[in-house]
Amino acid sequence: MNFVFVKLYLIVAYLAKLYHSESYDCKSKDVQEMMYLIDTVFTPSTNFSNINNNQANSSLITFAVYTLTDSKNPSYYYGNTTEVNLNRSKETKFIVHGWSESGNKTWVKDMVKAYFQTNKDYNVIVVDWSYYAEITYSKSIFYVASIGKIVANFITLAQLPLEKVHVIGFSLGGQIAGHVGKNIQMLQGRKLGRITGLDAAGPLFCFKNLVDKDKRINADDAEFVDAIHSNGGVFGCLYNYGTADFRPNCGTQQSDCLVETNKRNGSFIDKFINDSYCNHYSSTTYYVQSIYDKNKFLANKCASCDNYRKHIYDTTSNSSEEYMGEYCSKHASGNYYLSTNNLND
Ligand SMILES: *[C@@H]1O[C@H](CO)[C@@H](O)[C@H](O)[C@H]1NC(C)=O
Ligand SMILES: *[C@@H]1O[C@H](CO)[C@@H](O)[C@H](O)[C@H]1NC(C)=O
Ligand SMILES: *[C@@H]1O[C@H](CO)[C@@H](O)[C@H](O)[C@H]1NC(C)=O
Ligand SMILES: *[C@@H]1O[C@H](CO)[C@@H](O)[C@H](O)[C@H]1NC(C)=O
Ligand SMILES: *[C@@H]1O[C@H](CO)[C@@H](O)[C@H](O)[C@H]1NC(C)=O
Ligand SMILES: *[C@@H]1O[C@H](CO)[C@@H](O)[C@H](O)[C@H]1NC(C)=O
Ligand SMILES: *[C@@H]1O[C@H](CO)[C@@H](O)[C@H](O)[C@H]1NC(C)=O
Ligand SMILES: *[C@@H]1O[C@H](CO)[C@@H](O)[C@H](O)[C@H]1NC(C)=O
Repeated sequence: MNFVFVKLYLIVAYLAKLYHSESYDCKSKDVQEMMYLIDTVFTPSTNFSNINNNQANSSLITFAVYTLTDSKNPSYYYGNTTEVNLNRSKETKFIVHGWSESGNKTWVKDMVKAYFQTNKDYNVIVVDWSYYAEITYSKSIFYVASIGKIVANFITLAQLPLEKVHVIGFSLGGQIAGHVGKNIQMLQGRKLGRITGLDAAGPLFCFKNLVDKDKRINADDAEFVDAIHSNGGVFGCLYNYGTADFRPNCGTQQSDCLVETNKRNGSFIDKFINDSYCNHYSSTTYYVQSIYDKNKFLANKCASCDNYRKHIYDTTSNSSEEYMGEYCSKHASGNYYLSTNNLND
């Protein structure tokens, strides 16, 4: 995906969003049509059947293992390693960054720090796949399945008990997390405990040309899959891909982002790109905040964003209120909405 393509893509995404600014909602049929247009008009050369084909070199995927006593000095391993020195009794958190990023990204460091601030002795493992992330998006997506397999091999070779493994992936890393889950099932015939998809990547995975379930993150990839949608329909996936799908501020436009962007000078497209990045990254910010404060993001089960705005909640089920983020209960299922506007940080 070259820059011209990114711009065209964003213009259409912007128009779709503008058109539906009143009720930009995952259920809107017009938005689906618009997304279909984006997929077919701007990506005609992408053969979705081949989306997962390239083999990544496992020696180029690094695993930085942090523990409470070594929270500043991780031990590094490479894919296909057989000698992983880990305490298997602990819960293990894998953090997978997104496209154009590395394990050194600020939000990744913030998340590692957050886990140890709680003083809980986790294994926190940062998966660095920057070798395949720092290339164009349309090339990068062809390595997603292979990297998922390398992480699944790591989990299997390290003999980690699956119920204690939680894989958290942002954006394209969210799609990788899904493939970790699929490969674990192929290797071990059982599911991972939990996957969290932080605004899992939308473009080429998740619009009307929704690729098959076996090629993108979905609710079957782990015992429990939670999704946080913060820029659905632009950089993130508009549709549900979790056991429980959380949509802060209805899932596409985060209120603080637009306020910040509007303070800036620049063309509308520059502002839209800035705003979209901010919306996309909000999923990571919310998640890190939820590690510090488990009660921060109380969400209501709701049929749609419009219902949420009208305070029409689904109160009949046991899980009608759940916390978004790290401490989300495994009983959560379905659609959840919340507003972050009245929270002070
Ligand atoms: C896409 O790839 C599949 C599998 O390789 C192939 O069978 C199919 O013909 C391709 N479609 C197009 C439009 O190239
Ligand atoms: C994988 O990467 C390693 C480290 O750069 C290199 O030594 C090796 O030759 C590569 N293997 C393949 C099959 O490209
Ligand atoms: C992983 O290592 C084993 C030997 O330990 C080797 O046989 C296998 O080819 C390696 N796989 C990859 C994908 O590098
Ligand atoms: C491994 O972790 C468990 C649970 O945190 C702890 O009880 C145990 O002492 C640890 N074992 C070692 C060898 O550190
Ligand atoms: C991340 O930071 C470490 C330490 O500064 C450095 O050695 C490493 O090369 C960096 N990795 C990437 C992918 O930039
Ligand atoms: C925007 O442009 C105006 C006029 O050129 C300038 O005075 C102002 O400082 C700029 N604001 C920002 C945030 O760059
Ligand atoms: C938006 O633009 C401002 C000013 O250039 C920059 O500081 C900020 O990091 C940008 N935000 C994002 C999410 O890219
Ligand atoms: C609701 O919770 C009760 C008590 O925990 C349980 O017995 C019941 O099966 C739950 N119902 C559903 C639909 O999960």
